[in-house]
Amino acid sequence: MNFRTIIEPFRIKSVEAVKFTRREEREARLREAGYNVFRLHAEDVLIDLLTDSGTGAMSAAQWGALMQGDESYAGSRSFYRFQDVVRDLTGFRHIIPTHQGRAAERILFHTILHAGQVVPNNNHFDTTRANIEVEDAEALDLVIPEGRVPSAIHPFKGNVDLEALERLLAERGDRVPLVMVTVTNNSGGGQPVSLENVRGVRALCDRFRKPLFLDACRFAENAYFVKVREPGQGHRAPKAIAQEMFGLADGCTMSAKKDGLANIGGFLAMNDDTWAEACRNLLILTEGFPTYGGLAGYDLEAIARGLEEVVEEPYLRYRIRSTAYLGEKLLAAGVPIIQPPGGHAIYLDARALLPHVPPLQYPGIALANALYVEAGVRGVEIGTVMFGLQPDGTEVPGAMDLVRLAIPRRVYTQSHVDYVAEAVIAVAGMREQLRGYRIVQAPRVLRHFTAHFEPLP
Ligand SMILES: Cc1ncc(COP(=O)(O)O)c(C=O)c1O
Repeated sequence: MNFRTIIEPFRIKSVEAVKFTRREEREARLREAGYNVFRLHAEDVLIDLLTDSGTGAMSAAQWGALMQGDESYAGSRSFYRFQDVVRDLTGFRHIIPTHQGRAAERILFHTILHAGQVVPNNNHFDTTRANIEVEDAEALDLVIPEGRVPSAIHPFKGNVDLEALERLLAERGDRVPLVMVTVTNNSGGGQPVSLENVRGVRALCDRFRKPLFLDACRFAENAYFVKVREPGQGHRAPKAIAQEMFGLADGCTMSAKKDGLANIGGFLAMNDDTWAEACRNLLILTEGFPTYGGLAGYDLEAIARGLEEVVEEPYLRYRIRSTAYLGEKLLAAGVPIIQPPGGHAIYLDARALLPHVPPLQYPGIALANALYVEAGVRGVEIGTVMFGLQPDGTEVPGAMDLVRLAIPRRVYTQSHVDYVAEAVIAVAGMREQLRGYRIVQAPRVLRHFTAHFEPLP
């Protein structure tokens, strides 16, 4: 018999209580936090959808693997286990552990980038962009036009615009040291990239002799989307699809806090011997010896086991389905979201929901703050605050104003998700009462993490 209900493919062995607060308490906590949900104490949040990064639940097998950690400074057994698993998955020659994804980005870009160069990507994630711009280089987003329209339906909205990439490489190719593709495309809504599109990028990279790097944080979720959406891929195991995608690239940056199913960690991997040697030299300066890269031996064990679990089909089926479940509930209630639902998150279209709040008054902040005050749910603005500040200090509207509700892996149950849907629908119902914000103080780089806001009258 085939039952329709897709259940969580695990049972729960250990639980953590959540704290219930009153609305007045949440109002006070948010005011004290400068109206920036990043500055809240996590304890004061009921359901935390700020990020899916490092917030997942590890399996019993991962906790068990922790005890196998070899904490030797050099040549630890745990490193070799980690290296075997990453190499089996990616096929890359050099595997360089780092404490998280942005460390891999910083080491790669500081090693290979020069001022005035251009790095194309479908959409750069904020830390990727920042690590490129800090080298006085340009981070260029070349996602397909559908990827910029929240309501547009396309099975692979994360795809790279191959014509735009070809134009860039033809006109300014001498300034492009490498091409990147982010799978899935977080800043564009957690949208997947097709194998066919990566093959197209590879062909252009071959023609213009450029290396191709994946930002592989959510490679397994991307592989599952390929399996269920790309013609001719349905019979394949997600791992085989992921292996083929890595095989099209020359290297990757990876945050193991996502599809590594670990709470910390990442890696940089590549085939080029010269780049790898230079990257390892910088790694030693800032992260640690090349066989631990800022991680404990037990972290390497947890990641190795996590990378094996994340490509299991029952896990990926539940993962992608549970995100879509939230999206479908919101759509049925008329809440505008990026369509179709992404892999790790639902993105509320705050600009569409709050047309009376102009982008420079931050509709994403207005919506995220209301969700916290009304329901204790924490999401995050992905919009003008995150992307609107230009390198010259001026401010322009971001391409979209979204609130991302990221689903931690294996943490919340279906009733938690039902509560979130009810909360979002209730806040959408009071949309006319929501007001914009202004920034009171903010740093020049990655301002969304620490900025202080003030509600407009
Ligand atoms: C697509 C993408 N790239 C890079 C990163 C950076 O990884 P980390 O947070 O581990 O530094 C993230 C984190 O959210 C991401 O989503």
